[in-house]
Formats: sequence, C-alpha cells, structure tokens
Amino acid sequence: MANIILLGPPGAGKGTQAKRLVDERAMVQLSTGDMLREAKTSGTEMGKLVADVMARGQLVTDEIVIGLIAEKLAVDSGGGFIFDGFPRTLKQADALADLMARTGQTLDSVIEMQVDDAALVARIIGRFTCGACGEVYHDVTRPTQVAGTCDVCGSHDMKRRADDNEDALKTRLMEYYKKTSPLIGYYYAKGQLESVDGLAEMDAVGEAIAKILDK
Ligand code: AP5
Repeated sequence: MANIILLGPPGAGKGTQAKRLVDERAMVQLSTGDMLREAKTSGTEMGKLVADVMARGQLVTDEIVIGLIAEKLAVDSGGGFIFDGFPRTLKQADALADLMARTGQTLDSVIEMQVDDAALVARIIGRFTCGACGEVYHDVTRPTQVAGTCDVCGSHDMKRRADDNEDALKTRLMEYYKKTSPLIGYYYAKGQLESVDGLAEMDAVGEAIAKILDK
C-alpha cells in the first residue's frame, strides 16, 4: 500500500494516471478538482463561491480544499491514496503533512509529471469526459471508439470543462508556476520527489509510475 501525490501542471495527465491506479491497484483517487466540480453542481453555498474562481482558472482558498481533503482522509484508503491536484500551495503541503501524521499515515512518493506548455494547450483544448462515469478522452490522442459514446459505460453524455479554454489555461499555468511549482523543491528537500516523463505515451507513463510504486 502506498500514498502518493501526482504533481504537475494542468493537462500533465494526473487524472488519467490516477484512474489507471484506481483500476489496477484499487487505490483511492482524491482529486480536489473533482470534489470542487461536484460542489459546484450540487448548488451548495461553497459550490457557488468557487464556480467563478475555477472558471477563471485561479486557485480556490487553501481553507476550502484542506477541509475537503481532511474529510476524505477519514475514510478507508484501500490500496492507498492518490492525491491528484492537491496540494497546490506550500500551506496545503504543510496541512497534508499534519493531517497524515494525525491519522497515522505516511506519504510514500511525490511523482512529478514533467511536460512542456505547448503540449498542455493541445491536451486541454482536446479533452472531454464522460458525464456518467468520468472516463477521460481526447479528440486526437484518445477518441471514443464510436463517436459520442463512452467506451466504458455506453453513455452519450460527453462534457467539456468550463475552464478548458486558452484564456483560463493561461491563468491556470500562471497559478501553477507561481504557487504550485515551489512544491517540487519542497518535496525534493524531503527526499520524496520522483519524476516521470509526462510527454511519453499514456501506457509508458503508467509503467514509469508503476516502477516507482513497486520499488
Ligand atoms: P483540476 O481539476 O485539478 O485541474 P488541473 O490541475 O488543471 O488538471 P487537469 O485536470 O486539467 O489535468 P490532468 O493533469 O488531470 O490531465 P488529464 O489526465 O485530464 O483543478 C481545476 C480547478 O480547481 C483549478 O484550476 C482550481 O481552480 C481548483 N482547484 C483544484 N484543486 C485545487 C487546490 N488543491 N487548491 C486550490 N484550487 C484547486 O489529461 C489531459 C488530457 O490529455 C486528456 O484529454 C487526456 O486524455 C490527455 N492525456 C493524458 N495523458 C496523456 C499522454 N501521456 N499522452 C497524450 N495525451 C494524454
């Protein structure tokens, strides 16, 4: 069992690889982006509060996301937690360390997915997901076998995210470089950082992550 962080800019492939780990190793994916999108559609006060911030591509407050993660850490971790899109600031990283210590858990690896900005634009603009089961597709690199039909669950409900456009992506990248990329040095200094080539084929990225987990 291992608890890991997948760290990388928007479109690095965090969600894609997290879903593989859930299927292959029964790990539990904790995506703060998914949790916030759920809150948005559920119409709660918090959901309304974060909707505009997310659509612009900015980070929501540390307090909100730390609260969301704290709730989830209390549940069974199955084959281990995959933190996907969390932490994104030094304050969140410190809070995660505290929460794990309090719940008697350890963080095993922080896997940095290295990519370049040009590839990210193409990945984000081409992304769509199944609204029913959450499977992630891409117009070019991972289309559905039958146009408009999910390969996994057969749903026709395909969705594109409100923040998957060039303007919001510029802000998301800026937020990543200003607030999240310092975590690379933070985890390197703690001896927990591993890196994989996020530009490789999806299967090759998956194999590189598996090697780290099986060390
Ligand atoms: P979040 O949902 O976390 O989005 P993100 O970090 O911007 O990451 P993405 O989901 O866009 O990309 P990904 O790395 O998962 O890539 P994917 O696998 O889908 O956050 C959204 C917003 O919520 C934030 O902007 C912020 O407002 C808020 N938020 C969330 N967490 C927060 C926090 N902790 N603090 C504050 N605010 C927070 O892949 C992308 C595409 O590329 C797909 O189409 C896929 O098929 C394709 N692809 C993937 N891998 C490959 C490959 N190897 N080769 C070719 N194509 C590939």
